[in-house]
Amino acid sequence: MNDADLDVHMNDRDLARMLAVDAAAGLTASPKWLPPKWFYDARGSVLFEEITRLPEYYPTRAERAVLTARADEIAARTGAKTLIELGSGSSDKTRLLLDALRAHGTLGTFVPLDVSESALRESVAAITADYPALQVRGVVGDFTRHLRFLPRGGTRMVAFLGGTIGNLLPAPRARLLADLRDLLEPGEWLLLGADLVKDPAVLVPAYADARGVTAEFNRNVLHVLNRQLRADFDPAAFHHVARWDPVNEWIEMRLRADRAMTVKLPELDETIEFDAGEELLTEVSAKFRRDGLAAELAAAGFALRDWWTDPAGLFSLSLSRAAPR
Ligand code: SAH
Ligand code: AVI
Repeated sequence: MNDADLDVHMNDRDLARMLAVDAAAGLTASPKWLPPKWFYDARGSVLFEEITRLPEYYPTRAERAVLTARADEIAARTGAKTLIELGSGSSDKTRLLLDALRAHGTLGTFVPLDVSESALRESVAAITADYPALQVRGVVGDFTRHLRFLPRGGTRMVAFLGGTIGNLLPAPRARLLADLRDLLEPGEWLLLGADLVKDPAVLVPAYADARGVTAEFNRNVLHVLNRQLRADFDPAAFHHVARWDPVNEWIEMRLRADRAMTVKLPELDETIEFDAGEELLTEVSAKFRRDGLAAELAAAGFALRDWWTDPAGLFSLSLSRAAPR
């Protein structure tokens, strides 16, 4: 693949610098935490794709079912000429939208944005090969920082799939929705995939699978810290924890230290102490209800137009329009 197909707004040095800032803040805080975007180096992206195929991990299958049923309707309703995708990963389900928009005859440009350069390179190459008439332009960037690099003009639809919106805490989530509203012109579209509140007996196993793939995905952030910041975490000494928080209605993923440890981060000039049993929060995955999400969208300046779920009501896909300012 040619770099003409990719805009890189974060090279390895930028990534290491941003990771250093987050690690310095999160690992010295009490309780310790890290933002989930750091899972997704090349190995983390491959592990995530493996998660999507696990029997316990229902969101990908459920969202695919909604997209299969509704892609034509979405294409007809929006007439989108440019499809922007945030946190696009493999863009696998997105092909259902590309097919429908192509059949509808409107789509000219596809712009996937992801923090994972490896995942984006692969998906841009595959989509360019399979959709020769489409202009494909990948953006390596952070959707909390780099929305200004996305294209203007045309009838745009921003797709934010997979439930990744739930990996943002409420304040940054409100900020991202407001930033998206600012990016769009009145009448342009936001297609949002969001996982729904349900029985913890279904939710928890989706984040604590029997084969331990999610545990390995969780521990991957320690491998990233070791490589990028020359840290000396022993990933095998951390246990995967997935817990449902019924008050915040989110899943928390944590890494629990099996024993007391001292971890050196020479790049940061820091030494971090872990007590035996101490936990590091690596991800929240918020689950939504229709009324709550509609209110968040309205607060950001979006008018909810359609709300769909899979037949079992596990996962939602909503189509909203940027309201006049
Ligand atoms: N949309 C795909 C992938 C979801 S996994 C799906 O539905 O299956 C989440 C994706 O978001 C990963 O590819 C990860 O690299 C990306 N991501 C996470 N945080 C990000 C951020 N702050 N900016 C850009 N991409 C991000
Ligand atoms: C990307 N995101 C929506 C996934 C989720 O379900 O929150 C990430 C993930 N974490 C553990 N398993 C999958």
